[in-house]
Amino acid sequence: MAKSSCMTISKIKAMKRKGEPIVMVTAYDYPSAKLVEAAGISFILVGDTLGMVVLGYDTTLPVTMEDMLHHVKAVTRGAKRSLVVADMPFMSYQTGPEDALRNAGRFLQEAGAKAVKLEGGVRVAETVRRLVEAGIPVQGHIGLTPQSIHQFGGWKVQGKTHRAAARLLDDAAALQQAGAFSIVLELVPAPLSRLISGRLRIPTIGIGAGDGCDGQVQVFHDLLGLYEDFVPKHARQYAKLGDTIREALSEYAEDVREHRFPSAEHSFEMDEQVLEGLTVADEIPAVYQATAKSNGNGNSNGNSNGNGRKRHSTTTARP
Ligand code: KIV
Repeated sequence: MAKSSCMTISKIKAMKRKGEPIVMVTAYDYPSAKLVEAAGISFILVGDTLGMVVLGYDTTLPVTMEDMLHHVKAVTRGAKRSLVVADMPFMSYQTGPEDALRNAGRFLQEAGAKAVKLEGGVRVAETVRRLVEAGIPVQGHIGLTPQSIHQFGGWKVQGKTHRAAARLLDDAAALQQAGAFSIVLELVPAPLSRLISGRLRIPTIGIGAGDGCDGQVQVFHDLLGLYEDFVPKHARQYAKLGDTIREALSEYAEDVREHRFPSAEHSFEMDEQVLEGLTVADEIPAVYQATAKSNGNGNSNGNSNGNGRKRHSTTTARP
């Protein structure tokens, strides 16, 4: 793999300067990371949304460091050229810069992430500064910050009043000043996102924040129709993989029930003479005997089940 083909922080920043839209998507495991990278997206967030879309919680709050490490490791194994950002879970940094440093360090050292993301503006600026000073790239996250969902009282668009908009501008400026390399804007009205993006040197990455951001991030499962409990207004479904998967699994179940799977191509053959003398009719469970009889094969040794497929009878070798 050529070093130059890896995504880096400086490339992301340069994209803003050149006006090139930045594409980011979440991934939570090895296959999704491989698919994302194969689609030409090399800026990947292992979001704590995994709490909802993978682990089935109602919010991101129950997600732990161990959960995140487990999934970040899987993603970095699948996406070797990407800039993988690890989301710091609830209570892994809110307790202060020392905890933040220790936990963020684990994502880079143990899990292979290249950056971390944390939620908040002015109130986490000092923590961001300490992480950046330690050589850990940080992505900020303001607007609707899901780890504060109970404080917001629901999934509400932020920054709609003059005061709230001014506070978001201050938060964005504080994160940039602290050394964040980019900022996620979540559920922010489009005109405010455009204003914030225009004021910053670092890129803004929007989710439900309109087209005035420097880039967009979406949740893998939302884009692909894999999470059906709730489809956010900001997500466009580019596929309905839930339907595709259900159909495929039903077909598999039907094939097993109708003896269409496994077929010879999915089975392994052997010299059936080896089995001679191993089958004792009385030891064959009734269900197999019945099938053997209904197929016109009372003696089920190395027989066919009537559909042209081989059915092996009991082969338990006895001493
Ligand atoms: O956890 C996550 O996936 C996120 C995105 C929604 C930005 O924070």
